Amino acid sequence: MNMFVGVFGAGTMGRGIAQIFATYGHSVILVDIDEKYLKSGLEGIGNSLKKLREKGTIKEEPEEIMRRIKTSLNRDDVKDCDLIVEAIVEKFEMKAELFGYLDSIVKKEAIFASNTSSISITRLASQTKRQERFIGMHFFNPVPLMKLVEVVRGYSTSDDTVKFIVDLSSSLGKIPVVVNDYPGFVANRILMPLINEAIFSLMEGVATKEDIDKVAKYGLNHPMGPLELADLIGLDVCLDIMNVLYQETGDPKYRPAPLLKKMVSAGKLGRKTGEGFYKYV
Ligand code: CAA
Repeated sequence: MNMFVGVFGAGTMGRGIAQIFATYGHSVILVDIDEKYLKSGLEGIGNSLKKLREKGTIKEEPEEIMRRIKTSLNRDDVKDCDLIVEAIVEKFEMKAELFGYLDSIVKKEAIFASNTSSISITRLASQTKRQERFIGMHFFNPVPLMKLVEVVRGYSTSDDTVKFIVDLSSSLGKIPVVVNDYPGFVANRILMPLINEAIFSLMEGVATKEDIDKVAKYGLNHPMGPLELADLIGLDVCLDIMNVLYQETGDPKYRPAPLLKKMVSAGKLGRKTGEGFYKYV
């Protein structure tokens, strides 16, 4: 069944999510508050599809897939959508305001999903009157290549909604895994302390950044070292997630590394700003 999907946020995750839905035949409206992000989002999708087409991963021409993606600066344009996937900045107040508003305009039977990497799904759902049709649909970066969708069941998410999102994720070529709503869910509860510890190791002079990454790559068989991966994810995102883990659990083992905080303050956020632990041209 082809659906009409509203994707909020044309950043790294939102554009990847829009691309995947369009690739599998769904009509997508990609919404952002800034025209510049919509433009760079479409460019990014075009480049990714071109690469995948060259490799034979997708059968359709990129232009045909792109035709299924419309963009908009007006959030009212999603009122007839069957599914909303939110991928805006990782700030509770902004997501809460958006979901509260969408709940009043989007048709009642539509499902709301958040791609949040750590904010409580139950808390976001409570901003709406459709808590049973509210769920976490957590994709991974780069979305077109990463198989996992962490399907996060909030306190009141219904079995029907979980089944619908699990089946939908499988139909998008992904591997869904259902987890419960606890800080960081599963992926980031494991990944972020790893990255944070790598940053502490760098800060304490245990090894150079290159050597820390080499240890993970060649000793643990990770595809990327933790510092390279932090640059890919965005250091601001890593810090936001560590703060959620720390604040929600009150456990000092999750305290963000001071070097991480300092780099975020300095605007060295990783690939997206041209510099993080490494420099990007
Ligand atoms: N679309 C299409 N193609 C893409 C792409 C995209 N978005 N991104 C990369 N590629 C292509 C590359 O261009 C490259 O193509 P060529 O072979 O033609 O050069 C190909 O994919 C393979 O990439 P690389 O050669 O650069 O490197 P790789 O083989 O290591 O694969 C990777 C890249 C898949 C990113 C791999 O390094 C990897 O799995 N890294 C770990 C990623 C990861 O852990 N992601 C999760 C982050 S956590 C998260 O997202 C959630 C959260 O809440 C924070």
